Amino acid sequence: MDAYLDDSHVLITGASGGIGHKTTELFLREGAKVTAAYHTKPKELKKLNAQFPNKLLLARVDVREEHQVEELFDQGKAGFGRVDILVANAGVANHQGIGIHEMPLQQWNRTLAVNLTGVFLCAKHFFRNLDEHHADTAALVMIGSTAGVFGEAWYCDYAASKAAMHGLMMSLKNEIVHLAPRGRVNIVNPGWTMTPMAEMALQDEDMVKTILQTVPLRKTAVTEDIASAIVFLSSDRLAGHISGQSITVAGGMEGRVLFSWDEIDI
Ligand SMILES: NC(=O)c1ccc[n+]([C@@H]2O[C@H](COP(=O)([O-])OP(=O)(O)OC[C@H]3O[C@@H](n4cnc5c(N)ncnc54)[C@H](OP(=O)(O)O)[C@@H]3O)[C@@H](O)[C@H]2O)c1
Repeated sequence: MDAYLDDSHVLITGASGGIGHKTTELFLREGAKVTAAYHTKPKELKKLNAQFPNKLLLARVDVREEHQVEELFDQGKAGFGRVDILVANAGVANHQGIGIHEMPLQQWNRTLAVNLTGVFLCAKHFFRNLDEHHADTAALVMIGSTAGVFGEAWYCDYAASKAAMHGLMMSLKNEIVHLAPRGRVNIVNPGWTMTPMAEMALQDEDMVKTILQTVPLRKTAVTEDIASAIVFLSSDRLAGHISGQSITVAGGMEGRVLFSWDEIDI
C-alpha cells in the first residue's frame, strides 16, 4: 500500500498492544513519523525503535489522566511537530464476563475511564494541537469494536464504551473542519482479533466455532487486517473523502449466536 504518509506525524495510543504494535509498524513502513504511546509494556516497541531510529518516539501515558495526555502531545510535538493523525486505540476489556446485576461499579468506571474518557482526552488534545498549528488535512481514527455494534452480553461495560464512540465521531467530524478544513474522523470496528486482549477467548475452540457461525469468511482477524484499515482511513490520499464512517473489520459478521439448539425449547 502506498498511503503517501511520508512526513506525516501519527500519534497512536495503545501502541504496545497487539493491534497498536502492528499499526505502528505499518505506519513506519509507509514512511510516517510515529509517536507511539504505551502504558506498561514498552519492550516490543523498543525493538521497532532499533529498526526506525529517527522515525519513532516512544512515550508512556495513562490515557485516564489529562495531565499525562497533555504531556504526551507535548513530547510528540517536541519530537516531530504538529500531530497530523491520531489513532485512539488504547483499550481494556475484562477477561471474565459478568452480568450487569453483578458488575461492580468499579469495573464499569475503569472500562469507561480508559475506553471512553481516554479517547475524549486524546481527541481533545489532538484538536487543541490542530487549533495551535493550522493545516489543511488531519485525521482521527478511533478503534471501536463489534461489541459496540451488536452488543456483547456479559461485557456491557465494554460494549457501551465502544458504542459511545459513534456519538463522538458524528460530533467531531463536524468540529474538525473548523480547525483543519479537510480534517476527517472515522472509526475502525475490529471483530475478534488475535491479540493479548482476546487470546484467552480465542484459545477456546468451542468459543471460536460459536463466533464463526455468524461470520461468512469463517475466520477471526489477524492484526494486519485491522492495521491496514486504520492506515487506509488515516491517509488523505486514499480516504480523503471519507468522514463520519465506521468500518467494521470482522469477516462480514452478522451478530451473535445466543443459544445452542439444546437450549431452545419449542
Ligand atoms: N483484540 C480484539 O479482538 C479486539 C476486538 C475489538 C476491538 N478491539 C480494540 O482494539 C484496541 C486494541 O486492542 P488489542 O486487541 O490490541 O489489545 P491489547 O493487546 O490488550 O492492547 C491494549 C493496549 O491498550 C493499552 N492500555 C491499556 N490501558 C491503558 C491506559 N490506562 N492508558 C494507556 N494505554 C492503555 C495497553 O498498554 P500496555 O500494554 O503498555 O499496558 C495496550 O497497548 C482496543 O481499543 C480494543 O478494545 C480489540
